[in-house]
Amino acid sequence: MNVLKREVFRLVIISLTFFMVQCKSRQAINKDILKQHLSTEVTIEKVPYGMTPNGDKINSYKLKNKNGMEVGIITLGGIITDLIVPNKEGISENVVIGFNSLEEYLKPNPYVGAIIGRYGNRIANGKFSIDGNEYQLTLNRPPHSLHGGEYGFNRVVWKENEVKSGAVASLKLSYLSKDMEEGYPGNLQVFVTYTLTQENQLEVFYEATTDKKTVVNLTQHSYFNLSGDFSKTILDHEITLNSDKIVAINDNGIPTGKLEDLTHTPFDFRTPKTLGKDIEVKNEQLKRGNGYDHCWVLNNAEKGKTVTATAYDKTSGRLMEITTYEPGIQLYTGNFLKGNLPMREEGFYEHRTGFCFETQHYPDSPNQKDFPTTVLRPGENYKTKTTFKFSIK
Ligand code: BGC
Repeated sequence: MNVLKREVFRLVIISLTFFMVQCKSRQAINKDILKQHLSTEVTIEKVPYGMTPNGDKINSYKLKNKNGMEVGIITLGGIITDLIVPNKEGISENVVIGFNSLEEYLKPNPYVGAIIGRYGNRIANGKFSIDGNEYQLTLNRPPHSLHGGEYGFNRVVWKENEVKSGAVASLKLSYLSKDMEEGYPGNLQVFVTYTLTQENQLEVFYEATTDKKTVVNLTQHSYFNLSGDFSKTILDHEITLNSDKIVAINDNGIPTGKLEDLTHTPFDFRTPKTLGKDIEVKNEQLKRGNGYDHCWVLNNAEKGKTVTATAYDKTSGRLMEITTYEPGIQLYTGNFLKGNLPMREEGFYEHRTGFCFETQHYPDSPNQKDFPTTVLRPGENYKTKTTFKFSIK
């Protein structure tokens, strides 16, 4: 009997010990899952950035993922101040032109990092008509209008509309552009959402509605240098553009109306080619743009899915891939950078030390019947998205 009791007691003890060990390891597993969960979070942090001379408070948002990628955005102009991306050694560096203070961003500059609107790119003579009504825009690049006029969306203060973190982090900015602002008709309510994913993608999602027929063409004006070394030009970046035609321009950067076949021209990037390879070739279009400053007509078979443009920097190994819902992309090779914009630490951004990939509708579309329309009507929702994906090759 005693033996039986002892045996039962022994079994109970063994079962209890086994149960406790199980619980402990389950707790450990849960802790691990929690840790993993925390590290898979893309975080977002808000920091005050300063005040404009009008007394508007500007905030800075930092979106960070677990791979060492970071995006800094300020509420002035929705400007991307920092885009920090790892290189092939895992070292994270800034790959966009930026300044080190709000004061610098408030000074006139060539749209560094900003949201561009109401109309990205040029409108000839700053004029267009809708339903027989002629509109005259501010001529900030006389005799034409560029990037929304004198006080485009790059210079206004955006409101923080929504901030999210978790599997992705996003910042939704909003701006109400009043009827006739810079000469554009209609109250235009705009939203731009920046999202950083764990897969090193930066998504820019644009939305707009209007109460009067107007034109809209929003884009983003970051200057990239994937080497992370802004003392170097971007001329050895290898580019691909899934495009057979460019929007030909006149001496003033205004479309002639012709979409020119780029076969056997310096504009052919259908197979990888460095920006520097043909940039100095004798070519009328290159001369008119002072280098590349043209809109490529995209072969965008599956909008938002097909990679339409890539940029690769061999030394750092960084590859940037672009997908978009837009029909065109302006490739601008920093032809007007001339060493008068201060770098973050010391020195100045010299000629061609950054390039822009501005996804958009074609320039001057409001005056070109054969180009895809940029008209937005009351009741319609303008929605478009561009994704910049970073990886190592
Ligand atoms: C335009 C250039 C212009 C630059 C900065 C680019 O988007 O295409 O012509 O010089 O912006 O203003």
